[in-house]
Amino acid sequence: MPSFKSLFVKKDTQSDILKQSGLEKTLTAFNLTTMGVGAIVGAGIFIMPGVVAALHAGPAGMVSFALAAIVCAFAALCYSEFSSTIPLAGSAYTYVYTVFGELIAWILGWSLLSEYMFSVSSVATSWSAYFQNILAGFGIKLPVALQAAPGSTGVHGGRFDLIAFLIVMIISVLLLGGVHESARVNTAMVILKITVILVFIVVCLFYIKPANYHPFMPFGAKGVFKGAALAFYAYIGFDAVSTAAEEVKRPQRDMPIGISMSLVIASILYISLAAVLVGVVNYTKLGVADPVAFALEYLHLTKLSGIISLGAIVGMTTVLLVMSYGGTRLVFAISRDGLLPQRLHKLHPKTHVPVSNTIIFGLMAALFAAFIPINLVSELVNIGTLFAFALVSLGVVFLRRNPTFANNKAAFHVPFFPWLPILSFCLCLGLMLMLQAFTWISFLVWQGIGLVIYAVYGYRNSRARKEQNL
Ligand code: ALA
Repeated sequence: MPSFKSLFVKKDTQSDILKQSGLEKTLTAFNLTTMGVGAIVGAGIFIMPGVVAALHAGPAGMVSFALAAIVCAFAALCYSEFSSTIPLAGSAYTYVYTVFGELIAWILGWSLLSEYMFSVSSVATSWSAYFQNILAGFGIKLPVALQAAPGSTGVHGGRFDLIAFLIVMIISVLLLGGVHESARVNTAMVILKITVILVFIVVCLFYIKPANYHPFMPFGAKGVFKGAALAFYAYIGFDAVSTAAEEVKRPQRDMPIGISMSLVIASILYISLAAVLVGVVNYTKLGVADPVAFALEYLHLTKLSGIISLGAIVGMTTVLLVMSYGGTRLVFAISRDGLLPQRLHKLHPKTHVPVSNTIIFGLMAALFAAFIPINLVSELVNIGTLFAFALVSLGVVFLRRNPTFANNKAAFHVPFFPWLPILSFCLCLGLMLMLQAFTWISFLVWQGIGLVIYAVYGYRNSRARKEQNL
């Protein structure tokens, strides 16, 4: 029978920080910023601004995006303090292991896994839909059975989303080539997608009709808040930057820069895009799956629409790349702690990439994307992420009280301590409570599966427990 105390054994991160993990330290603040923008700006920006405006916030959709940005900014500051104090792979999971102990860390790690894996799956599904649209433009169509997952809305008779499966597997192969190589590919694609979004914003500026901004808040403040809970999806991903902590040259300086800069860039793009979109098309018409392309067709700018589709595909590709990367580094950290099989943190001698882990993570995300209609799992992305943000925010309060870390002068420190982390915790919890009952049930089922794995494998093989003879 496990003792209660041993379930909360804490990780000795000091020895891990000093040890060489084998992962190469090649990343800079610039790499981290492009990585962050790569992870954040993807499917969400091409879908959410329309739904948020049409169904919840009206022209005030830009305020919803600003509110979601504020929640993320608070959480990002907390992430920055942790990742510069404890620069280890595994992100929030590792921090919580140090502060709250193993069981909470496992629950959090398992939530983060749902964030990374299901965001890869959901974005791959959108990628596939966009790509099939482009193929259709050339008169190429896949057999219906291979167009989408069973039960997907809009496609009857779908059995297996072939394109979604293939794109996730291609991304995994790219990751197997090594971090630096994939960082370079990512940077080029990030620059391209920012350019495309800026072109859209600038072109739209010339077509804005001020009358479209009235009434500004047709659904009241409540609508704006609901809109913020939806817009949150579009910001998910900046925390993936912190999973790279062990591969950063100067984590104390570069981590906070990378996390905050990527969030600032994404916020500016999102708020501007949400603002111009409702200026050119009345919000009542924006409840469509592809509001950005819709706006261009509405303005008869069909040529630009092709460029935007390309931008969307590229944008989603970087999300797939960084979120897959983040997911594999999370699994690496959990496996290194003995809570998942050892094989998952074995590195390739030349590329320093965790090979089995990358293949298994890719395969699972690809199978989810191919077989499960994504609306069933996509809300899990939000709840898992908010849960992680809430724990990290609370964790900062305890981290500062921990004598081992309290005097780390080089690390970044959250301003307005302890009020900012506490407010961040409350805001995340508030947004979680706005999610539907179905999402909560799925989250609990997912956690249940995780706890069974922990009881059967993790508890028996925990490295921290062995080291501390528990
Ligand atoms: N933030 C990511 C996206 O919008 C999940 O694609």
